[in-house]
This record gives sequence, structure tokens and C-alpha cells, in this order.
Amino acid sequence: MTDAVDAAGVLPLYPQPGPERPLRGLYLDHGPPTAGRLIYANFISSLDGRVALPDEHGVFGVPAAIANPRDWWLFQELAVQADAMLVSGRYLRARARGEVQDLFAAFHDSRYEELRRWRKAQDLPAWPRVVVLTRAVDFEPPPDIDASRLLVLSGAAGAASAGARRLRSAGAEVVAAGAEDGVDARRLRGVLSEAGCDRVYAVGGPRVLHLLAAGAALDRLYLTLAPRLLGGERLSTLVEGAMLDPAPALKLRSLYYDQVAHGAGAGQLLACYAAADEGDAGD
Ligand SMILES: NC(=O)c1ccc[n+]([C@@H]2O[C@H](COP(=O)([O-])OP(=O)(O)OC[C@H]3O[C@@H](n4cnc5c(N)ncnc54)[C@H](OP(=O)(O)O)[C@@H]3O)[C@@H](O)[C@H]2O)c1
Repeated sequence: MTDAVDAAGVLPLYPQPGPERPLRGLYLDHGPPTAGRLIYANFISSLDGRVALPDEHGVFGVPAAIANPRDWWLFQELAVQADAMLVSGRYLRARARGEVQDLFAAFHDSRYEELRRWRKAQDLPAWPRVVVLTRAVDFEPPPDIDASRLLVLSGAAGAASAGARRLRSAGAEVVAAGAEDGVDARRLRGVLSEAGCDRVYAVGGPRVLHLLAAGAALDRLYLTLAPRLLGGERLSTLVEGAMLDPAPALKLRSLYYDQVAHGAGAGQLLACYAAADEGDAGD
């Protein structure tokens, strides 16, 4: 893992083509935590648009053919800049069953010690808040996360449910962010801002990304395009849900070619898109 991450081989392509540079620090350079409010998401996709496929047990996850240590390192660089990580209730249930990779690795895994030092130097707390979007409200607070760091967002029914009462008594904050059973996309940005979550790293899947896009609550999308065609009949793509109308416009903010991620001559593209109205505050 360290070897894979230590190799240089990243070519800046846009906005300014430049000489090869190391992978480490690539996304730490993208905007210090002081740059104001920012909600950002990060995905890896195959060339044919797959972000998740079922494994032999039918459990959906990032396909092994595209997952790679260099992309995972960049995931951690984005994580340590966050004052809140946004996940789905479904993810926390799958994490408790040990079925999915740990999206909070940056905050405890020994491989990311240097990133935690960076975080500390920015005066950020050791752990971010964990914002959970859920309709079902049927997960337990993860044993390794202080329940007082959990901010659970649901609809009116979910926030009044037995699951919500259980979470509150464990120390979590549960907020109704929608009149119906789920979170209302249009209220998401306001609720996050009222909770003091300025720099939110959304690491949910395609339904969560849909909610962010529908509520104009996505400021940046980091997208790794892995050079693989995967096929598959059951699949997840980047955004899933009702058609987005008007279609949110994003603009390319930066593009790198990581030449070494998938073996000789089969690099991956590291793109970052910004909401069309985002300024250049992070530069
Ligand atoms: N390739 C990549 O980079 C990448 C990145 C992220 C995720 N993924 C993959 O995508 C798959 C799905 O991930 P996921 O389960 O985290 O995300 P998801 O499919 O986006 O999340 C679905 C869950 O989010 C909650 N939710 C969605 N809309 C809601 C609303 N309006 N109000 C309240 N809650 C709402 C619900 O949780 P409840 O069930 O608790 O109600 C729902 O089950 C996984 O296989 C994952 O590996 C891939």
C-alpha cells in the first residue's frame, strides 16, 4: 500500500498542464478547511459507469477491478479535511455486519497517521461529526464512534420513531429534516449549516448523491475514472433516483492523469468538478 501510494506518476492536465508530481498531498492541496462551507463527494467509477456491483453473496460494493490503493489514499486525504462525514443508515448497518470497507479509516487506521497529524495541525478535532441520512432509523451507534458525534437526519416519521428515541438516549442528535418519511433534499444544506457542519464529506452512495444534487447541496464532486469496462446486469451508477430537472451543471475544476494506478499504461483519471456557481475560494 505504502509503495503504491509513494510512487509519483501524477500528471496535471487541467487547468494547467504541468510536470509529473507525487500522489501524496494531491487533494490536501485542494482547499484548506478555512475556505468556507463546502459539501463534497467522491466516487470511483469504471469506464462504463459502474460504481458498485454485487459480489458472490449479492452484497453491493465497489468492484474489486477498479478499487485501488491510490484512489483509496485520496479518499483519506479528503476525509481528514472534513468536519463532518455524511453516510447513509444503510451503510452503518452494512458496516456493523463487516460487509463494507471502513469509510472512517482515516481517523484510526495506523496507515493514516501522517494524515491525522495534518488534521491536528489544522486544529480539527480527532473525529468529524458523522451525519447519517436514514428513513429506516434502525441502526445502532457504531461502538467505535462517540454517539454524541452522530447527527441523524430523517423525515418527520423517522425522527419520532422508536429507533430515533433509542439513538437519542444513546447520546445522538436526531433531527427531522423533511415533512414526510425521508430527508427533504431542499432542507439538507440548511440543516447541515445550522448544525455547524461547514466542510461535509458525503461518502454515501448513488441515492445520497441524488439527494445532494436534487437539493443543490453538492459543491464538489471528485471522480476517479478507472480504465476498466465491467458490464454486469445488476449495478449501481453515480446517481440514482428521479430524473434531475433541471440537470445540475458542473464545471471541471481540475484533472490529473495518474499513470501508475492500474499497471503499465493503464492509468486512471482524477477529475474534480465544482457546482457551476462555486467560486475559486479553495485555490
Ligand atoms: N464507487 C464508489 O466510489 C462508491 C461510493 C459510495 C458508495 N458506493 C457503493 O454504493 C452502494 C450504496 O451505498 P450507500 O448505501 O452508502 O448509499 P445509497 O444507496 O446512496 O444510500 C441509500 C440509503 O440512504 C438513506 N437515504 C436515501 N435517501 C434518503 C432520504 N431522502 N431520506 C433519508 N434517508 C435516505 C436510506 O438509508 P436507510 O436504509 O437507513 O433508510 C437508504 O437506504 C454501496 O454498494 C457502496 O459500496 C460506491
